[in-house]
This record gives sequence, C-alpha cells and structure tokens, in this order.
Amino acid sequence: MTNKIRKAVFPAAGHGTRFLPATKASPKEMMPVVDKPLIQYSFEEAVESGIESILIITGRDKGPIVNHFDISYELERMLDDRGKVDLFKKVRAISQMARVCYTRQQLAKGLGHAIYQAKDFSENEPFAVLLADDMVHAEVPAIKQMMDVYEKYEAPVIATMQVEGENISRFGVIDAEEVEEGVYKIKDMVEKPSFEDAPSDLAIIGRYILTPDIFPAIERTEEGAGGEIQITDAMRLLLREGKPFYALKLDGKRYDAGDKLGFLIATVEFALEREDLGESFKEYLKSLDL
Ligand code: G1P
Repeated sequence: MTNKIRKAVFPAAGHGTRFLPATKASPKEMMPVVDKPLIQYSFEEAVESGIESILIITGRDKGPIVNHFDISYELERMLDDRGKVDLFKKVRAISQMARVCYTRQQLAKGLGHAIYQAKDFSENEPFAVLLADDMVHAEVPAIKQMMDVYEKYEAPVIATMQVEGENISRFGVIDAEEVEEGVYKIKDMVEKPSFEDAPSDLAIIGRYILTPDIFPAIERTEEGAGGEIQITDAMRLLLREGKPFYALKLDGKRYDAGDKLGFLIATVEFALEREDLGESFKEYLKSLDL
C-alpha cells in the first residue's frame, strides 16, 4: 500500500440547517468567508498539502459547489475581454487546483455513511478527509501536519484539540496517551458523549487520515449517536480489534464555521489577516462603541 496521501474526501451533503434561511436554496459550503466560499479554504489546504485528487460528496441542491470548481468559460472570457487579468487568473486557478470528482450521498445517514461513498475513489489507498466546517488557520497546512504523523507511525491519524467544559459533548472525544509532544496514541473514542461520560477533554476535529480498511468497518457499524452511521464508531471497531490510531493536536487555530458564532469569528479574523482589508477593517472595529 502506498504511503503517500494523494487523495482527499470532502463530505458536503449536509443540509446546513444551522444556517437557515441562508441555506434554503444554496449550500452552506458556498457561504462566503470574506470573499471565498467556505469549502475553498479547506480545499486549498488539501492542495497545499500535496493532494492531487479530490472527491466531494454532495447531495441534492449542491450544484453550485460543482460549478465553483469547474471552468467557468463565459465568465473567464468576459474577464479576459475586459482586461481584468488578476480576476481572470484567480477564477481560472480554482478549476486547476486538483482533479475533482463528485458522488452523491443519497441518504443523510451520517458522516460514516458519507465517507463510505469514497470506497471506489480510494482504490485501496489511504486518504484524507476534511470537513469544510472546521477551518484551520495554520502555518503548515493542517492536513500536511497530519500526513507527517501518518508517515512516521504508519497508522491513521485524526486531529484533536482541547475543549473546555460541557461543549465537549458536541464532538467525538478520544481517550489517549501522549507519545510525543502533541501526538497521542488513541485508546478509545466515543461520539458525542455526555459531559459526564467524556473520557477526556480531547475533541476530534474535522481532519482525518484513514486507511481503506475503514470501509469494511463502516459496513459493520450500526447506527450510533443521532441514529446515524458515525465514523467515530467505525474507527472504534478497528481500534478494538487492535488497529492503532493516532491523534495530532494541530499547530494552528481552528474555527467552527458550522456554527453561527464560529462563522462570524472566522469571518472577522480572516478579514483582519487580509492585506487588502485588514487595516481598514481594524480601524472600523476600533471605532465601534462597544
Ligand atoms: C463530526 C464528527 C465528530 C467531530 C466533529 C468535528 O461531527 O462526527 O466526531 O468531533 O465532526 O467538527 P458533526 O459536527 O458533523 O456532528
């Protein structure tokens, strides 16, 4: 089995109910953070990490995602005709970043079920999974950090971070032992435990490097939290059968753009980082009488 991670999977079939009515007729993955759709941030993270081939798992009404990563011939022609060279390049680059293919998750049966749709795409290779809702701002792209751990330990890697208090029950949670700074060997994991039952304060965040043995494990996974087929439960099956799993505390900052407040925070912080907007936006924020 090749050790190099060349493929990435983006589950994007969710209904985005937390953002209704904005998501009534357009995918949440296309909501702009400053001026780029949410999904483009993690897409770029994958490409910067060396990913060559991407599978986006879509569902009904996700057409705008497909259009976004395709060539937009008329738009490019118009920009070219008008001499808008920078915009032309920016638009063209989006369709050239990676080979992209799509499949549809016909039923919303959970993250494990979504990832199962990548079985043929993986062609028996290890692959990355990125949940676009989790944005990670980092010097070294998050999934690249995880690839390095995967290469060293030759085992699947999931991203983790510390979560204080009751919020932990919104995540998958690991029980783990630190084997080197920021790297943990996982002993157990549980999807969305109650605060009392959480085995630690280490939450799973939406970046995974998985091996193809996850697919038969998903087939054997029963409905779990929320009545859904959970990827955490499929990984746990393998773990209990002796397969090692590791977790990496990412070097960087994670934003939960799947949540309204998190989305606003991401928007503000990404805007402040921008060369073209940062200074004037900061002046504006300072002028607010809070
Ligand atoms: C998913 C995973 C969960 C993880 C979370 C990270 O949950 O099932 O283990 O902690 O992503 O964002 P979701 O947020 O899709 O319910």
